[in-house]
Amino acid sequence: MTRILFYLDEPGAEIWQPAFEAAIPGLDFRTYPDWGNPDDGPAYVFAWEPELGLIAKYPNIKAIFSLGAGVDHLTRDPDLPTDIPIIRMSDDGLKEGMAEFVVMTVLMHQRYMPRMLASQRKKKWRRLFPPLARDVRVGILGYGALGEYCAQALKPLGYQIAAWSRTGKTPENGVEHYTGSSEFQAFLKRTDILVGLLPSTPETTNLLNKTTMAMMPKYASIINAGRGTLINLDDMVALLDSGHLSAATLDVFVEEPLDKDSPLWQHDKIIITPHIASITRPDTAAQYVASNIKRIEEGLQPANVLDRSKGY
Ligand code: NAP
Ligand code: GLV
Repeated sequence: MTRILFYLDEPGAEIWQPAFEAAIPGLDFRTYPDWGNPDDGPAYVFAWEPELGLIAKYPNIKAIFSLGAGVDHLTRDPDLPTDIPIIRMSDDGLKEGMAEFVVMTVLMHQRYMPRMLASQRKKKWRRLFPPLARDVRVGILGYGALGEYCAQALKPLGYQIAAWSRTGKTPENGVEHYTGSSEFQAFLKRTDILVGLLPSTPETTNLLNKTTMAMMPKYASIINAGRGTLINLDDMVALLDSGHLSAATLDVFVEEPLDKDSPLWQHDKIIITPHIASITRPDTAAQYVASNIKRIEEGLQPANVLDRSKGY
């Protein structure tokens, strides 16, 4: 019998069990804190931000499934065992949800919605005339599962799309590729609307700072749906205030939830969403986990195993 140890410290977590039971016949699904005894036998963990040290107490865990595409909520645990595979979420629901968020927010930035909303709050009838999509250069930071899916979703709208990644990509119609630190500056210089879809690693931390953001064209804007560590927010606010950047939509933050006292909430040029750009959904996630468990049980390599040397 397959055993899953589930951890999600959020209201409504009970909706996960039926989806998993439907996907894996005869499943023993245990929700924290009812995980049973550490020596109860083999099990898989499916978790978001588990308590520090918890997973290390269960020596029979065969694999850890991250409830998200990101793994920083797991690897922050200094006691996390290093010999168990960590499998990243990459189900269809996550990709579709992110594409919807990115299309929505890119359209909002292109059509000057942050400025329109600021005018509305001041009861100002301020008519602005945005460019057409075909005249706007979108740059996607990260061309993995989500970045690529979002680029394909943006294509039919006519944007000039580029993507930046660590390793080279096969040339393709409609997306210009930039690779590695040597091409980062050129990527920034040609980007009017930047979409952050990078994992949090030492290399991506503070990648957007006063020097790099100043390389973007005047009135450029930023959408961050990857991780909060990407941006130095003080530098970003200074560039918004000076008028160099025109807007930012921020879905992710280093500390979540964002502090009630943060001045970002009130900033006229900033739109804040509470880490909902894309949400892992029980039905598609259960199918994804079930198919990976089947692969493991058959002695095959599961899909999307975290490469600990890269951090994603
Ligand atoms: P992925 O498939 O692993 O793709 C990551 C991309 O980032 C790859 O293209 C990779 O380059 C690139 N990259 C990593 N380090 C880099 C570096 N130092 N320089 C340049 N490029 C680098 O991940 P994914 O599934 O697309 O997810 C991306 C991230 O989105 C997740 O890690 C998570 O943090 C975030 N996320 C957020 C939400 C939300 O609701 N806000 C939802 C889901 C995911 P290569 O292609 O060369 O390897
Ligand atoms: C959400 O942030 C994820 O990593 O899937």
